[in-house]
Amino acid sequence: MNVPSSVFEAVPERRGTNCYKWDHRPENARGTPLLPMWVADMDFACPPAVREALESRIAHPVYGYTFEPAAHRRAFGEWQRDRNRWEIEQEWLVQAPAVMPAVRAAILALTEPGDGVVIQPPVYYPFFDAVRDNGRELVLNPLVEETADERKAPYGVRYSMDLDHLESVIGPRTRMVLLCSPHNPTGRVWSKAELAALAEICLRHDLIVVSDEIHCDLRRERTPFIPFAALGAEAAARTVACHSASKAFNVAGIATAHVVVPARELRERLSATLSRLGMTLPNILAMEASHAAYGASASWLDSLVRHLDEQIAWLASELSSRFGPDDAVTMSPIEGTYLAWLDLRALLGRTGRTHRDAERALLEEAALWLSDGRQFGENGEGFFRMNLATSRSTLADGVSRLETAVRFLESPA
Ligand SMILES: Cc1ncc(COP(=O)(O)O)c(C=O)c1O
Repeated sequence: MNVPSSVFEAVPERRGTNCYKWDHRPENARGTPLLPMWVADMDFACPPAVREALESRIAHPVYGYTFEPAAHRRAFGEWQRDRNRWEIEQEWLVQAPAVMPAVRAAILALTEPGDGVVIQPPVYYPFFDAVRDNGRELVLNPLVEETADERKAPYGVRYSMDLDHLESVIGPRTRMVLLCSPHNPTGRVWSKAELAALAEICLRHDLIVVSDEIHCDLRRERTPFIPFAALGAEAAARTVACHSASKAFNVAGIATAHVVVPARELRERLSATLSRLGMTLPNILAMEASHAAYGASASWLDSLVRHLDEQIAWLASELSSRFGPDDAVTMSPIEGTYLAWLDLRALLGRTGRTHRDAERALLEEAALWLSDGRQFGENGEGFFRMNLATSRSTLADGVSRLETAVRFLESPA
């Protein structure tokens, strides 16, 4: 059963639901409410099977302590086998409250204070704090941009890993790589060759890989996703892979995560830390939502991905028709995620404006709230991230506001 694409066009009204995106919405200095296109959740209704499972559980009036049922673990395992050709043993699974708590617990469990943890900016900004808050050292291995002649218009910069640089920054106390795969915000879905090269370095330097794979089900149709632990036994033995239904099925508010840890010793250390932190009790509704997502929502996800493909193609063509001749705004090819990484550097260079000017123009002239690229690291300067998992009309509104900001920046100061 295919879900018609119109399901994703008629988005529900989210205002009045304590929605972070639409109810936590400041005004600019002129008193105009900002159009929010920053936070990474979707405006679409979640899959019908998820709602039905929640409604049926809510109908029973007792919501006491629960556990993760074996059938839910099996549904997750079958999902990974069918979608990603990844065979998971049930005993490898550790349940956690959400992905970021799992990442933080893995840092605590598997490294010591003062140890180095590698991240690859521009990257999901909570990674920085997850390392720093726990008294570990950030080891930065910035992504690099493909050269201009490798780019395929209308798309802009595509990133890759700089593994020579990684080798040069690994020190005696570097213990872990915090990998974002697929990569938020750049939209990269790492190839098998790239991941295998990274795995070889991690093996040689005895690094643990915490692979945040939360976006793995949101990728373009013909882009395969390679789970880090599926690269082979040696990679699996050092992987802590973090998964959740929350992004792909839009259930971030009823969070839970599956952490896949094939190596028993790492798994036991992680479980002991989660237990020490009191993070072992699953949420009864999250169990239902996640189970129905992995167990009964495959065709919904396929339709969602097709809809996102259309949104991405539409945005690319708008950017090229509105800003094409001088590439005032380009976007990275979106191989995964529903996030557009917008590059305004050519515009800023040409007009002599700064990132701060662009931020001000977006907020004050256009009332458009994007994620500020600098949050993702120093090499996010000149970039803004736009969430396109919304109706076409909201996306169109966002694009015309973006144009307002661009024309303002182009006007004489
Ligand atoms: C790469 C990445 N990891 C983790 C999260 C958050 O996951 P959770 O809400 O399960 O902690 C996000 C949310 O945007 C994300 O993009």
